[in-house]
Amino acid sequence: MSQQLTIALSKGRILEETIPLLRAAGIEPAEDIKSSRKLIFDTNRDDVKLVVIRATDVPTYVAHGAADLGVSGKDVLLEYGGHGLYEPLDLKISQCRLMTAGRVGIPEPQGRLRVATKFVDIAKRYYADQGRQVDIIKLYGAMELAPILDLADRIVDIVDTGRTLKANGLEPLELITEVSARLVVCKASMKMKHALIKPIINGLEAAVTRSTQVAG
Ligand code: ATP
Ligand code: PRP
Repeated sequence: MSQQLTIALSKGRILEETIPLLRAAGIEPAEDIKSSRKLIFDTNRDDVKLVVIRATDVPTYVAHGAADLGVSGKDVLLEYGGHGLYEPLDLKISQCRLMTAGRVGIPEPQGRLRVATKFVDIAKRYYADQGRQVDIIKLYGAMELAPILDLADRIVDIVDTGRTLKANGLEPLELITEVSARLVVCKASMKMKHALIKPIINGLEAAVTRSTQVAG
């Protein structure tokens, strides 16, 4: 039987920007992904399927080989830890920053800092690297609320335009890392299906170069 490839896409905002890149690399979903309740999609290529899952689940599917390739935010990859994955390409989409933030004009308290975030491991590493003592409070969303209700002194969250912070009386403080969506490849698939995967990486790389030339 000929080899098949499964590509895991992050649903939500990354998906919107991934579809044109895939199309430019010659992979076209057989139906409109955004208006469908399906999770798995055929494409114009008999040997390529797409699955659309939560952004935070993409590294898990790819690292375990349930999907061969995936598209995932660098924030999600840093939080996941990267085992079992290659990250051959920056897709230069869904660009944003991972930052600390706090209430406008409120200085850092003495003693341990209370930090609310869904990026628990990233936050732990960031503050540990600086030798700062913190208590991390795990949240699943709306991190901006935590300093307002005095659940935390700081948050670690995604910042793009800064509008969400501003609308909630917060200000960005420290840059942890720049973020963009990355192509990830299962290490085992890269060995076993190299002849199928390499042209897709090359096609996406050319599509990224073309789109950044147009934008720039
Ligand atoms: P879920 O809905 O599964 O909880 P989510 O709300 O984080 O996940 P999205 O908002 O679609 O899902 O974000 C997915 C990814 O897009 C993030 O991991 C990050 O890499 C990127 N991202 C998030 N917010 C922004 C933003 N405001 N601007 C640009 N990219 C962003
Ligand atoms: C993301 C992120 C921030 C916001 C930052 O939230 O969690 O709250 O975008 O963007 P800004 O700096 O341009 O305001 P999103 O809109 O995806 O909502 P959700 O993650 O809470 O679903």
